[in-house]
Amino acid sequence: MFTVTGEGPVFHLYNEFVSLVLAVRTDPEGGYQEVCLTHFGYPIDEPLNTLDRLILENGSSNDSLRQIMPYAFPTEGRGDYRVPLFAEAYEDGGNCTELYYEDYRYAAGKPKLEGLPQTYTEQDDEAETLTIILRDPLTKLKVEASITLFAHRPAIASSMKIVNEGSEKLTLSRAGSLCLALPGHFDMVQLWGSWGKERYVQRVPSATLVRSISSSRGASGHEHNPFAILCDPNADEFSGRCFGVSFVYSGDFEIAVQENAYDQTRLVCGLNPRSLDWPLAPGECFQTPEAVAVYSEQGFNGVSHVYHDLYRTRLCRGYWRDRPRPVLINNWEGTTFYFDHEKIMDIARSAAALGIEMLVLDDGWFGQRNNDHSSLGDWFVNYDKLPRGIKGLAEDVNALGMKFGLWFEPEMISPISELYEAHPDWCLHADGRPRTTARHQLTLDMSRTDVQDFVIESVASMLRSAPIDYVKWDMNRNFSEIGSSVSNRHGLPHRYMLGVYRVMEALIQEFPTVLFEGCSSGGGRFDPGFLYYMPQFWTSDDTDAVERLKIQYGTSFAYPNCTISAHVSASPNHQVGRVTGIKMRGDVALGGNFGYELDLPNQTTDEEKEVIREQVKLVKKIRETTHSGVFTRLLSPFEGNITAWSYADENRVILCAYRVLSTVKRGPVYVRLHDIPQGTYQDQNGKTYTERDLMNAGIKLEFPRQDFASMVTIFEKVK
Ligand code: DGJ
Repeated sequence: MFTVTGEGPVFHLYNEFVSLVLAVRTDPEGGYQEVCLTHFGYPIDEPLNTLDRLILENGSSNDSLRQIMPYAFPTEGRGDYRVPLFAEAYEDGGNCTELYYEDYRYAAGKPKLEGLPQTYTEQDDEAETLTIILRDPLTKLKVEASITLFAHRPAIASSMKIVNEGSEKLTLSRAGSLCLALPGHFDMVQLWGSWGKERYVQRVPSATLVRSISSSRGASGHEHNPFAILCDPNADEFSGRCFGVSFVYSGDFEIAVQENAYDQTRLVCGLNPRSLDWPLAPGECFQTPEAVAVYSEQGFNGVSHVYHDLYRTRLCRGYWRDRPRPVLINNWEGTTFYFDHEKIMDIARSAAALGIEMLVLDDGWFGQRNNDHSSLGDWFVNYDKLPRGIKGLAEDVNALGMKFGLWFEPEMISPISELYEAHPDWCLHADGRPRTTARHQLTLDMSRTDVQDFVIESVASMLRSAPIDYVKWDMNRNFSEIGSSVSNRHGLPHRYMLGVYRVMEALIQEFPTVLFEGCSSGGGRFDPGFLYYMPQFWTSDDTDAVERLKIQYGTSFAYPNCTISAHVSASPNHQVGRVTGIKMRGDVALGGNFGYELDLPNQTTDEEKEVIREQVKLVKKIRETTHSGVFTRLLSPFEGNITAWSYADENRVILCAYRVLSTVKRGPVYVRLHDIPQGTYQDQNGKTYTERDLMNAGIKLEFPRQDFASMVTIFEKVK
């Protein structure tokens, strides 16, 4: 719903869960009009009351006033000193920008962003969009700020279209997507990590500092996920005021939070200004990616529930969006590069016998790829390893009743490859500098359309040549020497990302039923941008069950479980050497898209195979619920020895609990469930519970006397 009142005017976008008020303030001395965000949060009735935040009557543009103003679109160089959303740079070295209110538009629905990932609507009544038009009176730069409020969700999407309507060439040195101006102080919760340790939850207390997370690696990265929550200091998983922010983009980003001495908090989210420098000639236009902000008073789970539902149903797209995913086996941890047709078929036969539905052939099937030193870019079959080719292998796998999937790393080029011999200028490089390799590889210059076309054709021709149902899209290094043979370095990381998005869009359009899974040395590009093209992501190369508790728990802050791939791997675990039982490994993998990652015939005993058979049966029975049920975190692995989470939908409730180390018996431990739909439920032993029993009395956690123990209880709804 939308109102516009007063002369200012004051805009109020609201639904039953959230209100957003933008007020135009006319400066009494200068006469110019600036737009302020006077409220974002719990629904309110009278938006004009929020004008107290503006000191409208007598405030002039003095120094301290500028530092208090809750600007919605703050700019550089006008004396507010906080992190700005926009900055232009001019040829004469100046960088001062003013953006004043000019007009607004309002429409039902959500406009499409060309060439970028985005949340979407299927019907116009699912959202409404307010567009505020701003202009710099000197340079004539026009900004159209679009703010979409989703119906029945406490969520907004915000993005900016920037047009140079002047006659001077400008450079955008900052072009953010969202600014939140919030009164008060907040803790910041973010997801940090490294390879094998992605998306650990970190809480940084309120401080009069700039707290910022970012990437300048060319990918959103392992280090910081483009996601943050600002919350009240007493907020926890279940209660407290929280503002979530998530950037729908896969490359360089920055989320900066600044509190000042006047009790004002500003959050700015967008492309990383370090690598933007976007030249904007007269007449040119630049569209920022979108940021999605969420409000909840139900703590972190409240924020996650909103992102889970929105991203599962209105960010992910296509054939697989609403379909539970096949149980797969991937050969990577089982064989790495050392396989041939027969070895893969042995794994496939054993997997088929246990009910596994798809075999994925990982790295090493192409060119001369017998280790990671060569062949990226040479996307043709290695017939020494696979004499019947990919087609023959896929057909043999299909004959077992299984689907077949294949790994690619399309954005890369090995210096030892036929592709590099033919096109040494196709990688990112800076003339006169060494070409720094990582994992012995260079990055293709995906800003070039000839390179994009080559990548589309390489992947597409393989997919056309064989019955391939799934693609794992890997990316195993970040940028260095960010330069191109065909363009200057300005804005190159963003042009790279636009190129990757164009390639992925072309492929998903041609192969709409192929299931694409993103990957980047594990979860190094697990972000909402990627999920628009590929509805699931390889969560981490660390597949140890204990380590995965933290990784998957953290990932679930922003991402629905149907996007989180989770596989059972060998024990002792390859990454950490820990020995865990097949039950614990399987129970942890229920936290996402379930699969296996081992040499089944050689790395499992007969007894383990029987457990696997039962696990696969269970997954098939409950996967509708793990795909789209409400996922709630109950006990955190970051806070104690026991982790627990649950799924709930109209059919069942699934409680998963894990105890890392055994302890002497200290009396029963109960976990109370949350967000359980009304009904009567029955567990495996025939005991019945109502939703109130589950939520108020809780369930007793019982683990066997051993380290690395788990329990999964399924409560089927009986009425
Ligand atoms: C990194 C991925 O995360 C792994 O799963 C595997 O696909 C390797 N790359 C293959 O090189």
